[in-house]
Amino acid sequence: MEHLVSPSLLAADFGNLEKDILLINRSQADWLHLDIMDGVFVPNISFGFPVIEYVKKLSEKPLDVHLMIVDPDRYITRFRDTGANILTVQYEACIHLQRTVTEIRRLGMKAGVALNPHTPVSLLKNILPFIDLVLIMTVNPGFGGQSFIIESYNKIEELRMIIDAGGYDVLIEVDGGIDTKNSAKLIKSGVNVLVAGNSVFRSDNPEEAIRKLKEQT
Ligand code: DX5
Ligand code: ZN
Repeated sequence: MEHLVSPSLLAADFGNLEKDILLINRSQADWLHLDIMDGVFVPNISFGFPVIEYVKKLSEKPLDVHLMIVDPDRYITRFRDTGANILTVQYEACIHLQRTVTEIRRLGMKAGVALNPHTPVSLLKNILPFIDLVLIMTVNPGFGGQSFIIESYNKIEELRMIIDAGGYDVLIEVDGGIDTKNSAKLIKSGVNVLVAGNSVFRSDNPEEAIRKLKEQT
């Protein structure tokens, strides 16, 4: 399949979010990635429901919501009501992961599971039948603008083999330090969705940066 691009709003201009959301609407972006951080699961706090509501009103792209929060079960319904289309929880934050992803799907969203860099893909074996997406963190979550962890390629190739061997309908998304220098190799390794924050919003021409990520083969 053709790969998707999901720009991360974390690197956008929070003094003028409307400008950046309209830019995304005009661009070739497929989804809009929203990073929710609680200051507990990760050492940073991002933004919450009032901002997501505002984004939802303006965005024409599906909202790809990445929860870096402990005990996400408390808020699944609220994220659905606020407009999330894809809801991804961190593997490390969920004790009853199968229950969590089943609830996400029951509420009509696509369910994703994110893995920290140290979490092996082999742990996903028994959850793959219940999810739509795996998000491989290619940096330690919490901040934009970090360097891509090179070892991620092996992890992605291993996950691609597991997904194909099992015949699962599950997308592989990558997040952290993604740009036009690593995106071609990532796609070859089996990635379906590229998240990019700084390489899009901090470039001179974000629309063009999205187009270049989209045209990588
Ligand atoms: C990091 C977030 C990322 C972040 C990516 O914890 O999950 O989505 O916004 O930003 P860049 O592309 O700048 O590394
Ligand atoms: Zn993210």
